[in-house]
Amino acid sequence: MAKDVIIACDFDGAKKTLEFLDLFKDEKPFVKIGMELFYSAGPDIVRELKNRGHKVFLDLKLHDIPNTVKKSMAVLSGLGADIVNLHAAGTVNMMKAALEGLTRADGTRPLLIAVTQLTSTDGESLRRDLLIDKPMEEVVMHYALNAKSAGLDGVVCSPLEAGKVHAVCGEDFITVTPGVRFAGGEKGDQKRVTTPEQARILGSDYIVVGRPITAADDPVAAYERCLKEFLG
Ligand code: C5P
Repeated sequence: MAKDVIIACDFDGAKKTLEFLDLFKDEKPFVKIGMELFYSAGPDIVRELKNRGHKVFLDLKLHDIPNTVKKSMAVLSGLGADIVNLHAAGTVNMMKAALEGLTRADGTRPLLIAVTQLTSTDGESLRRDLLIDKPMEEVVMHYALNAKSAGLDGVVCSPLEAGKVHAVCGEDFITVTPGVRFAGGEKGDQKRVTTPEQARILGSDYIVVGRPITAADDPVAAYERCLKEFLG
């Protein structure tokens, strides 16, 4: 299983993103493009970062009827993304359709992972807004199993859930985990955080790290520290 640090490039345009990545002279970090950057810079930002030699996690969290998701995934696959994602709440049929759409003519495809429940959703909003009475952990594990049964490669989850997801869905089922902070660092709006080293011990396969790297005085040094602590 490949383990890596993915930098969340949460910038509002291509220029800032490319200037930030130009700081890295000796390495080509794995990067995450989220909705903000994709909606402002468009599909060209994916092609540009791929041409520059980066691996790209396209974090667009699709959720629609199976046919629409299938066709949209075919477009994203054509951009050359390495990992894409969707909401497991879209059902097993939607996830299966997504996989079909992603598979290229030569049989290759990006990895496909599912968001189970957003970390911004708590037990109370699960019950009140979504009318789901089961405990959060049971819901998350059920959605992870749905993703696995649809043939997906893994889930986005908290590092604190990574061990349980592996226990339920298998060691090869990938866990991609945001919510990582250096010991003593600013938490920002993240609540349940772990250090890169704890994420490794808990079994995360990929950690997604934004502000601890992008807002650091020396982003390259922060990235290297993160790699060192996570890879051990
Ligand atoms: O700056 P920070 O390290 O908090 O960035 C974390 C990244 O991971 C952001 O792009 C955020 O949108 C994303 N993310 C998250 N929690 C989730 C899903 C995605 O923090 N449950």
